[in-house]
Amino acid sequence: MAMECLRIIGGKRLAGSVRVSGSKNASLPILAASILAESPVALSALPRLADVATLLRVLHQLGIASTYQPCGDLLIETVDASRSRAGHRLVSRMRASFCVLGPLLARRGKAVVSLPGGCNIGPRPVDLHLRALAALGAEISISHGYVIASARRLRGTHVCMAGPHGPSVTGTANVLCAATRAHGITTISGAAQEPEIEDLGRFLQRLGAQIDGLGSDTITVRGQAGLGGAVHRVIPDRIEAGTLLLAAAIAGGTVHVEGLIPAHVSRLLEALDATGVSLDVGTGHITIVACGRPRAVQITALPYPGIPSDLQAQWMALLSLADGQSIIRDEVFPGRFLHAAELSRMGARIELLGSSATIEGLPRLSGAHVTATDLRAGAALVLAGLAARGTTVVSGLEHLDRGYVNLHEKLSRLGANVERRIFRGPIIADVNDRPAAALRRPCKRF
Ligand code: UD1
Repeated sequence: MAMECLRIIGGKRLAGSVRVSGSKNASLPILAASILAESPVALSALPRLADVATLLRVLHQLGIASTYQPCGDLLIETVDASRSRAGHRLVSRMRASFCVLGPLLARRGKAVVSLPGGCNIGPRPVDLHLRALAALGAEISISHGYVIASARRLRGTHVCMAGPHGPSVTGTANVLCAATRAHGITTISGAAQEPEIEDLGRFLQRLGAQIDGLGSDTITVRGQAGLGGAVHRVIPDRIEAGTLLLAAAIAGGTVHVEGLIPAHVSRLLEALDATGVSLDVGTGHITIVACGRPRAVQITALPYPGIPSDLQAQWMALLSLADGQSIIRDEVFPGRFLHAAELSRMGARIELLGSSATIEGLPRLSGAHVTATDLRAGAALVLAGLAARGTTVVSGLEHLDRGYVNLHEKLSRLGANVERRIFRGPIIADVNDRPAAALRRPCKRF
C-alpha cells in the first residue's frame, strides 16, 4: 500500500537560518472571530496549514467567503448570515472548529455546533465553554452530539475560565468573542494568558471591541451592538519556534531562528539554557549553538507562561539523548504521552507513571519506522530522527501537516537529510547500534 512518509537519515548537524510561520493557534480563533465582523477582514501571516483550510471550510458552511490575495493576505467577508450550523465531519477533524460557537451565538443569536469529542492527547471536555456561555445568558442544550445554543442578546457578567488543569484556551476565546456583543460588562477571571488569546483580543479591538486586561488572568469586555472590519497580522508561531530550537538542540549545530517573539518562549529558553546549549537572543530572532549531549533537566508543561504542553513531546525526544535522568510532567494534558511508545521503538528509555515520564538518556537513538499519533508527537519523532543512527521513517504525516508549514523543507534547508516521499511496499529502516548505559547527573527543574 502506498504511504506518504518522511525519511530521515540521522546524524547531520544543522546550520543556517530559518523563519517561523504565523501562529496556528492564534489564526484559528481569529478566523472564527471574523464571524463577528460586519465589514471585510484582511489577515496576513496566516500559515498555510491543513487546520487553517479546515476552519475556512467551516466558515464557508457558515456563509463566510474567504479569498487569498496575490500578496498572500486572506480576505474574509460574510455573504450569508443566516447559517448557524457547524457539522460533525469538520468539527471532529479539528477541535478548534468549536471556536465558532461564541462568535455565532453573539452575532447570529443561534449556534448549532457538533461536540468535538476526545482525541489522542486525552479527554477534552468543553464544560468550561458551555458554563461560561450559559452564565452570559445563552440557552444551551445538547442533542444528538450537537451543542444547540441560543440567545436574543447576551448579558455581561462574571465568568471564570479556570479548570482542573488550568484555564481553557479556546474556552477563553469563545467567551471573549461572545462578550464583545453582550449587553454590559463581562469580567473573565482565570482567563488564559496565552499570547494567542492576546492576539485574538488585539484582533477584536481592531474590529472595535472594548477589551482590557489582555495577557493577564482577568479580562474585562464592555459589550457593544456592532463590530466593523479590520486588517490584522497574526503573531509568529511560538510552538514552531520552540520546535525548531529543540531541533537544533537535538541535532547539534548553529541555527538562527528568525521572525519570532523571544518573550513568548522565555521559559523554554531558560530550560534550553540548562541543557547546555548557548543562546543569543535578539529582538526578533534567536541563535542557538548546540554541541555535545544535552544535560538532563526536569520539565513541567504548564499553562502560559510555563513550558507549553505542545512542546512536551519534542522535549521528550531531546531528553531521550540527555546525559542523565530527566523527568517530564504534563499538568495540562496529564496523559499526553502516546509518543513515548514510538520513541521507545527508537531505543529511548522512558517509564511512564501517571502524569510524569522518567527518561534515562542514552548517547544514541536508532532509526526505526515510527508513526505520528498526533501533531506534536509527529514533530517529536522527526526531531528524534535527526539525531538517530541510521534511517527513520515517520508516517502519519496528516498530523504533522495540521500544524507545521513544510517542516521537512525547513529542516532540509538547514542541512538535515529529510525527504518527503511516497513509499510503496514494506518500509525497512536501518538496523542500528545498541544503546549504551546512561550516565547519571543531577538535573535542573523547570
Ligand atoms: C489549546 C490549544 C492546544 C494546546 C492546549 C493547551 C488551540 C487551538 N489549541 O487547546 O494546542 O495543547 O490549548 O495549551 O489553541 N478543560 C476542561 N474543561 C474545558 C476545557 C478544557 O477541563 O471545558 C481542560 C482540558 O481537558 C485540558 C486543559 O483544560 O486538560 C486545557 O485545555 P484547553 O486549554 O481547553 O485546550 P484547548 O483550548 O482545546
